[in-house]
Amino acid sequence: MSKGFFIVFEGPDGSGKSTQSELLYKKLSADGYSCVKTEEPGGTLEGEKIRDLLLNPVFNLCPKAELFLFLADRSEHVNRIIYPELNDGKIVICSRYIYSTLVYQGFARKIVEIEFLKKINMFAVNDIVPNIVFYLDIIPEKGLSKAKKNTFKKYYFQGGDRIEMEGISFQHRVREGYLSLASQYSSIFTLIKCDRSIQEINNNIYNLTKRRLKNDRNGKNRKGQNKR
Ligand code: TYD
Repeated sequence: MSKGFFIVFEGPDGSGKSTQSELLYKKLSADGYSCVKTEEPGGTLEGEKIRDLLLNPVFNLCPKAELFLFLADRSEHVNRIIYPELNDGKIVICSRYIYSTLVYQGFARKIVEIEFLKKINMFAVNDIVPNIVFYLDIIPEKGLSKAKKNTFKKYYFQGGDRIEMEGISFQHRVREGYLSLASQYSSIFTLIKCDRSIQEINNNIYNLTKRRLKNDRNGKNRKGQNKR
C-alpha cells in the first residue's frame, strides 16, 4: 500500500524528459510538496553500474541480457527508492519506467511478445504502477540528434550510446510503440506534443499535475492506489 503520488515521464530519446521532470520537480517543491526526482536506468548506486553496462558502447549484450539488466535495475529502483518514498507520502517523479521496456525491448527490438513483457515487468516492480504518465511526443529525427549531442556532452560516446546507435528506424518503432501504449493505457497516459517551447510544455504539465493532485486529495483514499 502506498500513500504517495507517482508520476512517470516517457518518450523517445531526446524528447526532453530530464528537462521537464526537473522543471516539474522545482515547481511542485516550491509549492510545498515533498518530491523525489529519479530516473531509469540508474536511480541507485547499483543501478548506475547497470546503466553503464547497458549504455556504454564498449559493451556488447545479447538482447535477452539487455532485457534482464533493465529489469534488474528497475527492481532495485522500485524496492530501494520508488516504493519507500511513495509509502512515505512523497510525490515521486521518474524519468522512464516499465513502458520504456515494453517499447524499446518489445515494439522496437522485438525480443519477445508485449504481453509477456508486461507480466515480467509487473513481477519486477511488485505491481507498483504510476498515477500518471506524461508521454513526450517528438519527431524521431529531431529527438535522436538532440539525444546524441547530450550523450556526447555527458559521456563523450561518439555516435550516441548503445541504444541510440540503433539508428533512426529503431527510433521510429519506438515512437509507434509509445503511440500504441498511449491508447492502450489511456486512463493514465497523457500525450504531450513537444513542438512548443520548453516553458509552454512545462506549464501544460504543471497544470495537469496540479489538477490531478487536487482530485486525488479530494478523492476517497490514497492508500493502495499504486498497487494493481
Ligand atoms: P537515457 O539517457 O536515460 O534516456 P534519454 O536519451 O531519453 O535521456 O538513456 C536510456 C536509454 O535506455 C534510452 O535509449 C532508452 C533505453 N531504455 C530501454 O531500452 N529500455 C528501458 O527499459 C529503459 C528504462 C531505457
